[in-house]
Amino acid sequence: MPVTAGRRRSALPLALWAGLLFPLACARSGRSGADEPRFDAPSGPPGDPAIPARVAAAFPDAWRLPAGARATFAPQVMAVSNSPEASAAAAAIMREGGNAVDAAVALGFALAVTWPEAGNIGGGGYTVIRMADGRVAAIDYREIAPLAATRDMYLDANGNLTDKSVYGHLASGVPGAVAGMAALLERYGTMPLSRVMQPAIALARDGFVVDTALAGSIARARGMVTRYQPETPYFPKGEALPAGARLVQPDLARTLQAIAEQGPAAFYRGWVADSLVAEMQRGGGILTRQDLQGYQPVWRTPIHTTYRGYGLLSMPPSSSGGVTTAEAMNVLEQYPTLPPYGSARWFHLVGSAYQRAFIDRNAKLADPAFVPVPLAQLTSKTYAKRLQATISETRATPTRELEPQMAQAAREPEHTTHYSVVDARGNAVATTTTLNNSWGSGVWVRGAGFMLNDEMDDFAAQPGKPNMFGLVQGEQNAIQPGKRMLSAMSPTIVLDRNNQVLLVVGAAGGPTIITGTSQVILNVLEHRMSLADAMRAPRVHHQALPDSLTFERGGIPPAVLDSLRGVGHALRELRSLVNVNAIMRVNGGWEGMPEPRRSGGAVGY
Ligand code: DON
Repeated sequence: MPVTAGRRRSALPLALWAGLLFPLACARSGRSGADEPRFDAPSGPPGDPAIPARVAAAFPDAWRLPAGARATFAPQVMAVSNSPEASAAAAAIMREGGNAVDAAVALGFALAVTWPEAGNIGGGGYTVIRMADGRVAAIDYREIAPLAATRDMYLDANGNLTDKSVYGHLASGVPGAVAGMAALLERYGTMPLSRVMQPAIALARDGFVVDTALAGSIARARGMVTRYQPETPYFPKGEALPAGARLVQPDLARTLQAIAEQGPAAFYRGWVADSLVAEMQRGGGILTRQDLQGYQPVWRTPIHTTYRGYGLLSMPPSSSGGVTTAEAMNVLEQYPTLPPYGSARWFHLVGSAYQRAFIDRNAKLADPAFVPVPLAQLTSKTYAKRLQATISETRATPTRELEPQMAQAAREPEHTTHYSVVDARGNAVATTTTLNNSWGSGVWVRGAGFMLNDEMDDFAAQPGKPNMFGLVQGEQNAIQPGKRMLSAMSPTIVLDRNNQVLLVVGAAGGPTIITGTSQVILNVLEHRMSLADAMRAPRVHHQALPDSLTFERGGIPPAVLDSLRGVGHALRELRSLVNVNAIMRVNGGWEGMPEPRRSGGAVGY
């Protein structure tokens, strides 16, 4: 029987400020390639346990997710996503003999049916894999700007930014999800597309019961979706489908069936492409047949870095996820140990490391096909040492003060969803995919039954001005035709000191993806929390601008907040930060945990 976790959805005071201080056989898993990159973490000292014992965590009394909960355990395989039905689809494919890649692709298509606010075929994403034989790969199927896109297309006649990069037909980049998932399956999977898509097709055709999480999401999207199309399966007769109702999506089932039978050509050239282009023409969009026909996913070498001897594999540009995570963690690694989790000094150091990494992210990262990106420098330990030297123990440095120094130093020629899958052989897949905003641009493609992305807002639509996530980004990420907009998505695989997969993790949440994902990793590696504690621990975020430390309500006790204010941090409180889904290897198998602040399912056997 599958093991499932249903969809449901003390810190230390001022005194601590002073310095208290946290497989198996190789599968028939792909059409091989000796030229593919491998990444081996440095091995630990002999006798070093691969998974050191976990240490009990303590969270503030006012925090709503107490420490000590348990994740879902399964001995062989595990899939975790924001949808229990989609996670179950992945587990079913593995039971039929598929590997983690087959299962992840099944999960990705199923999410497009069961979690339509973010799971998609009308958007794009990134996948990082590590096969049991040591091969690693990353595939970039981020959307690209249509050929007719222009730098200032979202400015009005007075030069002011409009909301057209977020809502409506102009907001979409050329979708990459179908091409990316098909390419991933082709190279590393063992089953044909027609087989792994069966669960998704059945869920769309036969329907499934809407739970409260999905019903809430549908209800919140009513205005933005019905504005473009009054009647869709989510809004029959214009009314939001309630919890308990069955969501049946016949148009989407037909689209998925066509892709299953004809491959990505059905989406990029066939009748689905015609429907998409017709939808664009109906609403004044600029995406054309030529855009669709020209779309190509890109294989990339994962960012690989280490943190205290553990290996980290993550996504390189066009996502900023891997570089920014590596940069922040390299800065933190300069400290012999981190202060105790939850202490004022911990928040200060972690927030300051993120602040510096985001200054670089916002000014230097973009699509490498258009802009030279100083990857080696930004991820180097030497550079991290220089950045660490700029962190004062007693004063938060204003971003505006740091920016000029860092520009000098490094000059050189709500909604996304993450899923993690591992199989019994030790193959691991981390995928993050998105429409950007929840329900994307709000535009549903008539006849083909899927939502389109509003990814164009991830460009700097007006360099120097904040986007939807408050990110202030530079000219390097300005709109250009055919360019990929910079992302924060951070699908990440962590290897233990014996080179085995330890964590498969990633998140949704715009720029907080980077900080949320890396905090779960830090909680496990540095503070030796269990997966459940690492996921439930209060989170913090800093993205350079706005120049503030964002924290979760109840997650930092008043005395620690006072200390942080005392050293000059502007503090911003949110109810919750980031939607992470993770798998961790434990003795005898895997633990899986969907985001405890949101909803999802961990399914394994
Ligand atoms: O690629 C990015 O960084 C954004 N489009 C992600 C958006 C996101 O996570 C929204 N979800 N909460």
